[in-house]
Amino acid sequence: MNKLDTRTLETALAETADAVAELLDRLLPSSDGPDMRVCDAMRYAVLNGGKRFRPFLAVTSAELFDVPRMRALRVAAAVELVHCYSLVHDDLPAMDDDALRRGKPTTHVRYDEATAILAGDALQSLAFEILAEEETHPTPRVGCELVRSLAKAAGAAGMVGGQMVDLQAEQMAMDIGTITRLQQMKTGALIAFSCEAGAILGEAPKAERHALHAYAHDMGLAFQIQDDLLDIEGDAATTGKAVQKDQAAGKATFVSILGVERAREQAKILADQAIAHLDIFGEKAELLALAAHFVIMRRH
Ligand code: IPE
Ligand code: IPE
Ligand code: MG
Ligand code: MG
Ligand code: MG
Repeated sequence: MNKLDTRTLETALAETADAVAELLDRLLPSSDGPDMRVCDAMRYAVLNGGKRFRPFLAVTSAELFDVPRMRALRVAAAVELVHCYSLVHDDLPAMDDDALRRGKPTTHVRYDEATAILAGDALQSLAFEILAEEETHPTPRVGCELVRSLAKAAGAAGMVGGQMVDLQAEQMAMDIGTITRLQQMKTGALIAFSCEAGAILGEAPKAERHALHAYAHDMGLAFQIQDDLLDIEGDAATTGKAVQKDQAAGKATFVSILGVERAREQAKILADQAIAHLDIFGEKAELLALAAHFVIMRRH
């Protein structure tokens, strides 16, 4: 990726990040009653930086189909809420037991465990409330498809199922096929939803939706390989989270199985494969192609 491409992508990422943060600020609840603590914790867990990569994918894929921007931003906000909930729960003592997230104390450290669990639960509910609202799409069938697809990506067949297998990867040896499946569920499913959401909103033909799914499949795996590489090679000041955790936990990852060099090669192959799936869109998909390069070069 040359300097100009890097700047183009960083500008686009920053623009979406600002727009989605502003919308999230409006959509997140506030209270001055006794429930104030959970509302504050929800805001704390979401309005705290983050790359907003999934929102970027949702907005950029929606642009391929000329979807009105506010509809795309609302879906972007919904997927970021599910992602933030997954991070709040992932950091809990019962899971990864982490104290640092996005450069700040994790939600259960800043508040307490019960509040963090409840805040995560409520972030997830809010995501589906937003998707079901008419402002997201006036056609109920499209709204239902968004709800169904995000539910599937977030649940036992997606992120939650992947998190379960991920915990087991600390207890038992796993082969590369099982690790691939785990990463597809844990990280890939929400990334795939983000990309496909543009096609759902745009009521795009099947072939274009499938192309986005195939792109997201390969790019999502590359994204998680880079996350595993950053756990080994990164530093907490740049990543905003503790590093050197996976090996200490004895967790099987792409990197533990393939080693650093081959994992990096594999991420590059996957990024190139992801880009090839975008051919059907021609030049319109340039930002998505840049995003596939970004995932394997990112340092946080
Ligand atoms: C971290 O996701 C957790 C994974 C699924 C690998 P990101 O790297 O997108 O984290 P933020 O949202 O930028 O904090
Ligand atoms: C978590 O994966 C992915 C989620 C579904 C939250 P990790 O445990 O590797 O994510 P980090 O490294 O804590 O961000
Ligand atoms: Mg984890
Ligand atoms: Mg973690
Ligand atoms: Mg990690």
